[in-house]
Amino acid sequence: MNRKLTLIIIAALLGSVFVPAARAAEMTEKEKAMANPYPNDFGPDTLPEDVLKAYPANVQAGYKKLLSNKSGCAQCHSAARPLNSRFVEPEGGMDDAKQDAWIAKMKKDQPELFKDGAAWQVETKVWSRYVKRMMNKPGCNLQKADGKSIYEFLSYDSVKRKTGANAAKWAEHRKGLVEQLKTKNPKRYEELKEAKDL
Ligand code: HEC
Repeated sequence: MNRKLTLIIIAALLGSVFVPAARAAEMTEKEKAMANPYPNDFGPDTLPEDVLKAYPANVQAGYKKLLSNKSGCAQCHSAARPLNSRFVEPEGGMDDAKQDAWIAKMKKDQPELFKDGAAWQVETKVWSRYVKRMMNKPGCNLQKADGKSIYEFLSYDSVKRKTGANAAKWAEHRKGLVEQLKTKNPKRYEELKEAKDL
């Protein structure tokens, strides 16, 4: 084989390996968020009025900030993604020991919360970690104070709407969303299942 042809073939092979990676790096966070759906996205992108009205004023304020598609959580994906998430941050404020104690109590009082990962992921500081993770994404327009306020909403709301007397209703809702992903986008369903991110 002549040298020039060999070089062309090598270049073509390298191209097919490196181009998709380069393309992924160029994708904006919004494109990434859109290209990779979650079961969460099939749920509602607002809370029912009666649920919201019962929340304290600071929590309601955080919710309103979350909804904004300019400075909140709906810049890259819809508000449905956080609102229908399986994440539950324990009661206890920012105190790790108190949150751990709440988990220990719930393991006795409501063990089902720890048995079905598709409905609940109860974890110390989980929302704190996720809000920071989203705020660190390139192109994120979230202000620090708004991040704190949104976090206050997410942690309060996750306990209220997903545990206690509302646990069974929540599990049914989440399972419905996972089923929708499974039928509408089986490839993505398998991918998330594999990554234990369902
Ligand atoms: C700059 C774009 C951007 C903004 C703004 C953003 N997100 Fe995301 N979000 C993403 C991308 C991309 C993903 C895909 C998974 C990942 O990178 O973590 C994602 C995924 C998620 C998930 C799914 C995680 C899982 O594993 O189940 C949740 C929940 C979420 N975001 C919550 C939020 C919250 C809460 C806010 C506001 C504080 C927010 N996002 C703001 C880009 C964004």
